[in-house]
Amino acid sequence: MSAGTDAVATYTAAASCAPGTPLTLTLTRREALADGVVRLTLARADGLPVPAWTPGAHIDLLLGPGLERQYSLCGDPDDTSALQVAVLRETAGRGGSQYVHDRLTEGATVRARGPRNHFALVGAEHYLFIAGGIGITPLLPMIAEAGRRGAGWHLVYGGRTRASMAFAGELRARWPEHVEICPQDETGLLDLDGLLGVARDGTAVYCCGPEPLLAAVEERCASWPPSALHMERFAPRAGGDAVPEEPFEVELAQSGMTLTVPADRSVLEAVEDAGVPVLSSCREGTCGTCETGVLEGVPDHRDSLLTSEERAVGDVMFICVSRCRSGRLVLDL
Ligand code: FES
Repeated sequence: MSAGTDAVATYTAAASCAPGTPLTLTLTRREALADGVVRLTLARADGLPVPAWTPGAHIDLLLGPGLERQYSLCGDPDDTSALQVAVLRETAGRGGSQYVHDRLTEGATVRARGPRNHFALVGAEHYLFIAGGIGITPLLPMIAEAGRRGAGWHLVYGGRTRASMAFAGELRARWPEHVEICPQDETGLLDLDGLLGVARDGTAVYCCGPEPLLAAVEERCASWPPSALHMERFAPRAGGDAVPEEPFEVELAQSGMTLTVPADRSVLEAVEDAGVPVLSSCREGTCGTCETGVLEGVPDHRDSLLTSEERAVGDVMFICVSRCRSGRLVLDL
């Protein structure tokens, strides 16, 4: 999934069924926020209120075949007149952000799906928010919500240069005692050892940014309680076990079918091959679109979304990447 970056995604025909019926939105405002970053304000073309959402949620922008991208919502959840996203132009990306920057002008029609939230704000006495670059976007409504809840919070926001850091000026002006702005060319890399070296009870850590930052935060939080760290990834988690794949059986409880998932196919592909409609987007375990309930069996989780606690519960899986540890799964499909 993506904060405002050009995450990898693949458009499939199977992605158009209910409950993912796309919204038709109109780009009512487009603003340059920082070097390479634009904010889009998107209202429903039919004038109705936009769907409700909570801090940490994202929408899929359906920009065209092969151009389906996820962007975190960065506006105010109480504002039902429009949704807002901020998009970083990524010249080395796969074209989604360049399409947004080069082709989407005010008045354009944009189809979208969602909102969906796999990065929700849990209850905590205190929040430590760590943002890298455009990863600030999902944290903005979280900060406002933390304040509404009366919780303590602190934001450490790193970026390449001050000019590249969207929202930095307004964040610092509004909450000078809560916000640290850390442009790398002025202050160097974030002091993660200082921030995370000692685990703090009652503190939830929320981090969004590029993979090296996420990996470094994850490493520093190894001694924290497992439920303390919450991250949103733009790209699949690095690593993973290089184990030979095995075929396994999947029963689709709603469809009444039993399928064999071959060693070289994903559950998602096997389900699509069987003609069962299922939503998908990134097909790499980052966006959450293909979340599927697990009724029986033990999933082999390979996504970049679930926490270790959620994995242990085992009642949902992301079928684009995850497989099976028990030889057979019963899925709520
Ligand atoms: S399609 Fe994105 S997580 Fe499966």
